[in-house]
Amino acid sequence: MRIGVLTGGGDCPGLNGAIRAIVRKAESVHDDEILGFIDSWDGVMEQRYLRLDVSSMRGLLPRGGTVLGTRRGSPYDHDNGLDRVRDSVGSLELDALVVIGGNGSLTVASMLHRDLDLPVVGVPKTIDNDIAGTDVSFGFHTAVQIATDAIDRLHTTAESHDRVMVVEVMGREAGWIAAYAGIAGGATVVLVPEEPFDIGEVCEIVERRHYRGRYASIVVVAEGARPIEGTMAELDYARDHLGRPRLGGISVSVASEIERRTGFEARVVQIGHVQRGGTPTAYDRILATRYGLAAVDAVHDGAWGCMVALRGTEVVRVPLTEVIGRTRTVDLTLLHDVAQVFYG
Ligand code: F6P
Repeated sequence: MRIGVLTGGGDCPGLNGAIRAIVRKAESVHDDEILGFIDSWDGVMEQRYLRLDVSSMRGLLPRGGTVLGTRRGSPYDHDNGLDRVRDSVGSLELDALVVIGGNGSLTVASMLHRDLDLPVVGVPKTIDNDIAGTDVSFGFHTAVQIATDAIDRLHTTAESHDRVMVVEVMGREAGWIAAYAGIAGGATVVLVPEEPFDIGEVCEIVERRHYRGRYASIVVVAEGARPIEGTMAELDYARDHLGRPRLGGISVSVASEIERRTGFEARVVQIGHVQRGGTPTAYDRILATRYGLAAVDAVHDGAWGCMVALRGTEVVRVPLTEVIGRTRTVDLTLLHDVAQVFYG
């Protein structure tokens, strides 16, 4: 078979491991040919690709980012985008396209399967862990570890100066990184997009802690967290080229509000893209590898329009139509029953 592969959306640790696994299994077991499209859907429309083989994959497993490059955007953003995809698939004689992506790219894959009958298989990746249909997407575990390491370091400097540290992590619509890193790092409070926060309550928790003689606090806030309406000024975000709010900065408002209301010195740490860069953890390397191998199995079974997914310890297939249009959000019992026990 001739199989195309692309990586779409924001990069994350583990992408190269997934590509490597696809190439290894496809070439060694099935004698397939693999074309790696450069810069996501742009590469498909413009027929920009690399021929991938096992020898070109050497050394990639621990490497962050994606050797194929990635972009946000889709063929649906162009007047003749679908025709160009159809032409490319025809002229390159592709039998299958493996789309390694987050909610945006998997939605496009599902739509192209519907509109062009494109033989697609999806692989879930994102540090945000917000893809429905799977228990985990690769990249998440590494991001949590990076954020936890940062929180561990912030404890000692916060304690030395008796400061409140407001740590902002990624998490646009789901607060998985905030919840996990907050619990793992022993945060004083965790704020997530799933539940608008009450800044008054946050300040009370910090003050209670202070009056117990614990003068340093760590407040973890997901970039997509929002205050309860009317309790604090809302941020007005700039937009990216797709019109999505370019998040970042909620920690600044939270810190200044804590300082204003409590009088305690508060500082801001935005971990930002550090969470997406660099080498994947062992867990993410293994998950990305398992997904890559499972994607090749799905291709050879002709399981078009599916996504490989983790359910418990098993890698399974789920229809893309059950994945798209949904967001896998944090189960709030995790915050209420676990994180909040340690608040203050
Ligand atoms: O989608 C993953 C993510 O890391 C989000 O958490 C974050 O809001 C976004 O990407 C940032 O995207 P970009 O790198 O395009 O600014």
